Amino acid sequence: MNDTTADRVIVALDFDGRAGAEALVDRLGDACGFYKVGLELLTAAGPDLVRELVARGHEVFLDLKLFEIPHSVAGAVRAAGALGASMVTVHAMGGTGIMTAAVEAARDFPRLKVLALTVVTSMTGGDLADIGVAASTDEQVVRLARLAVDAGCDGVIAAPRETGPLRELLGPGRLIVTPGVRLADESSLDGEAGGQARAGTPGAAFAAGASYVVVGRSVNRAADPVAALRRVAAGG
Ligand code: C5P
Repeated sequence: MNDTTADRVIVALDFDGRAGAEALVDRLGDACGFYKVGLELLTAAGPDLVRELVARGHEVFLDLKLFEIPHSVAGAVRAAGALGASMVTVHAMGGTGIMTAAVEAARDFPRLKVLALTVVTSMTGGDLADIGVAASTDEQVVRLARLAVDAGCDGVIAAPRETGPLRELLGPGRLIVTPGVRLADESSLDGEAGGQARAGTPGAAFAAGASYVVVGRSVNRAADPVAALRRVAAGG
């Protein structure tokens, strides 16, 4: 395994309770140092699980997807920082006010990075039109990414196909965290043969400029999660 790449893979603990999450963390052992805890697990298992992961030496991406009034966003970011989280997410669609509130609240927690979500990948151009946004999804992603860095966010969450364009737009200094990656034989996309990284794989995301990839079901539902994680770190 390429250690440098392995350090840049975040495994999503998408479970409905503590037991499943703990079983995966125990099984992965030293193979994984960075976990994403989302709203399902946080709500089901509570914040102690995050504290315990941090106490065991793991980094935690707390995927809160905040979209609230600035005062409440700041409070939630402070709570994430107090738990020892390394990353927290805020919706850029909520505007500059909440992103600035998140960034300012994170200042007390030097390890905590604030990442902005742009347009969630399940949204279509039609969905944007429904909420009064005339831009295409691609245009809106760029607009919101710019807004996020102007507000002081440390980086953005980007779908695999957005990662290259956003790396060009943002330059080398910002974090780009890419979920939605698939191992080559799981991908629905037909990529090139002959050793070229296929579109949507972890390797393609890293090549396009991802700082980290987030992987969920490819690892957390695998019969052999350690082997699956090794494949992710090797590019998928
Ligand atoms: O699809 P997978 O199980 O790998 O998803 C892992 C995590 O990545 C999920 O927790 C989800 O929040 C995130 N994700 C995302 N956008 C996608 C797919 C997954 O943000 N298109």
